Order: sequence, then structure tokens, then C-alpha cells
Amino acid sequence: MFSALKPQPADKILALMGQFKADPRADKIDLGVGVYKDATGHTPIMRAVKTAEKLLWEAETTKTYTGLAGDPAFNAAMADLVLGGTVDAGRISSVATPGGTGAVRQAFELARMAAPQGRVFVSDPTWPNHLSILKHLGMEAVPYRYFDADTRAVDFAGMIADLAAARAGDIVLLHGCCHNPTGANLTLPEWEEVAALLEKTGAVPMIDIAYQGFGDGLDADAAGVRLIANRLPEVLIAASCSKNFGIYRERTGALIALSDPARQEVTQGTLAYLNRQNYSFPPDHGARLVTMILTDPALRAEWEAELEEVRLGMLTLREGLATELKRLSGSDRFGFLAQHRGMFSRLGATPEQVERLKTEHGIYMVGDSRLNIAGLNATTVPILAKAVIDVGV
Ligand code: LMR
Repeated sequence: MFSALKPQPADKILALMGQFKADPRADKIDLGVGVYKDATGHTPIMRAVKTAEKLLWEAETTKTYTGLAGDPAFNAAMADLVLGGTVDAGRISSVATPGGTGAVRQAFELARMAAPQGRVFVSDPTWPNHLSILKHLGMEAVPYRYFDADTRAVDFAGMIADLAAARAGDIVLLHGCCHNPTGANLTLPEWEEVAALLEKTGAVPMIDIAYQGFGDGLDADAAGVRLIANRLPEVLIAASCSKNFGIYRERTGALIALSDPARQEVTQGTLAYLNRQNYSFPPDHGARLVTMILTDPALRAEWEAELEEVRLGMLTLREGLATELKRLSGSDRFGFLAQHRGMFSRLGATPEQVERLKTEHGIYMVGDSRLNIAGLNATTVPILAKAVIDVGV
């Protein structure tokens, strides 16, 4: 039977992780996978997480199953983190999921159950796994213009023109903040326009928010989600705790669905049903840590302070890189690096230039020239800038 299996295409981001690991050069620089690293290249356990783990070890008396939807306290805390109390509780359904990817997968499945012929509009470009999961589920992905390769900013006119083709039964997938892979984000007035267009088309927005707190701050990063949540009758939100709590391997995320209160019970039941079909009970350890942190004022303050250090550190690196490239190139053409937000920016290098950065300089970034800003430090910023100019970007 297994002889019928065909090799599957390698995930480009994960393949790059393997190549970096295998490179023997001591001065290699990893700007690939979206994992936060401090100035020493280490991905630390956040202070509040470590404290919560200690408290949990003392206090936890059972590992028996939670509910199918996960711990209600986690679901409430996550809805509050993302929506900031702006949405009537009667509209909210939510479940814990294995990471943000689990939430994305469940959201697509819910959309397919509700509208089997529906299409999913995705930004061009988007996180490659969005496309891969849609293909695996047999769902049609329709790209919409998003990134202007010349200005490295959002092609908003193109985006609005393309989204006008969406209709009832379709999903429009949006990145809540810190767009992956480009780092180019919508302004609040642009979110307003997207909301107005979605109202007209009847398509349902699905917002993937995996980097809340990495861009302009916890509330500012959720402003677009909150606006959409309050304008549109039905919304899907996939939230990840991997990055902002630094608990990547714990697989902690939430899927939130907003509906008419009259449809809440069926929506909540469908989310729980989907959990049961795909993995039964969602993982709880990371979710419990997140709940403890979000609901304990001292732990929350400690977490928010460290998240802010992380965010500001990435902003400093962005500004440093833009300044150094301005000095070396004698032009403003890399100014977008300081404008972008989150972990990623798309540099605009050709695949050949990306390859040269890897082979000649030991600098690893994704083939589309997405670089992880958090992979840099004060020493490597000028090294990267020099290499970028050297390969002719
Ligand atoms: C990324 O885009 O690098 C991260 O979201 C990690 C992943 O799973 O791809």
C-alpha cells in the first residue's frame, strides 16, 4: 500500500532550517524560520512563562481531559487578548487548537463545511503553509494583489480591485498584523475600506493573527481585527501564542468564530466537533500557562514588559539595518525596512541573489528574500548590509 505514496514537496521554510543546521561555517547567520532570537541567537523561555510553569507544577493535580473546546478560561482569555472586550460575548465561539496552524486548519474546514464550493482569497504572497493546507483540503485559493515589489509597500488599489470579485460563500484571508512574508501592513483607514468592501460582497473575513505584540504593540496590532469584528456579522480568527509567548513547541493557539448570537450554539458545537474529528482534545499545557499569565496581573505585567523589550529590539534592528543600507547604497531604497513591522521583511532580492547570500556569505533567508529581523544582532546588521550590497540588491 505504501508503495503508492509519492514524495511530498518539502516546506521551503523547514527545508531551509535543515540546510542552516548542516552548514559548518561558524559565522553563518540564520534569517530563515520565524522564531524570535535574542542578541546571542538564543530563543529564550519568557520570564513569565518560566514562573507560570513553576506555579503550575506546584498547583496542577490532574492531567485528565479538559473539554473538547479546551479550557473555557483559556478561550475567554484569548478572546479578550485579541478582541479587547469590544465584541458582545454572545457572538463569540472559540476553541483551543494545536498552535495557530491548528486554528487555520480548523477555520478552513469550518468554511468548507458551511460552503463546500467557497473559495479562499489569499494575499499574494502569503505564508506558504496557507496555500499548502488549502491544497491538501481540496479548497480553491484565489490570490489577491497585496505587495508592490517596487515600493515594498501594500498595493492597496490592487488588493481592493481583486477582492471585489469575492462573493457570499467565499473566505477572505487577511493577516491581522506583521504580514508574513512581506512585513507590509494595512493602515487603519485601509482596514476600514476592506471592511466596507467585505460588507458589500458578503464574503467572510478570516484573520490569521500570529504576531500580536511584535508590530506596534498588543492593542495596536489587534486594531484591524477589532474593527473587522465589529463591522462584519461573521468572522473567523486564528490566533497563535507561539511567538508572543515564545512557546513554539507547546502548540498553543485558538480559533475564534464570531456569529449572530442565534447561531452561536451551533457554531461552538461545530468547532468542538472539528476538534474531535481531527485530534480530539487540544493540547493544554501551553494554554494553561497563557491563561495564568493573562489572568494574573503580576505575571501579565511581566509578560507585557518582556514582549515590549522584544518588539523594541526588533525595531532597533530594523532601523539599524535601514540606516546602514542607506549609508552603503547612498540611496533611500531600503527605507521600507524601517517602515515594515513584525519579524519579517521581504528584501526584494532575486532568487539568485538569495542563493549568493547563502553560498558566499553564509546568510540564510527564505527564497523569496523574506528575512527574519530577529535573526540579527548589532554585530550582524553591518555584515548583512555589506553582503546585500555586495550581491547587488
Ligand atoms: C514562519 O513563517 O517562519 C513561521 O510561521 C514558522 C512556520 O511554521 O513556518
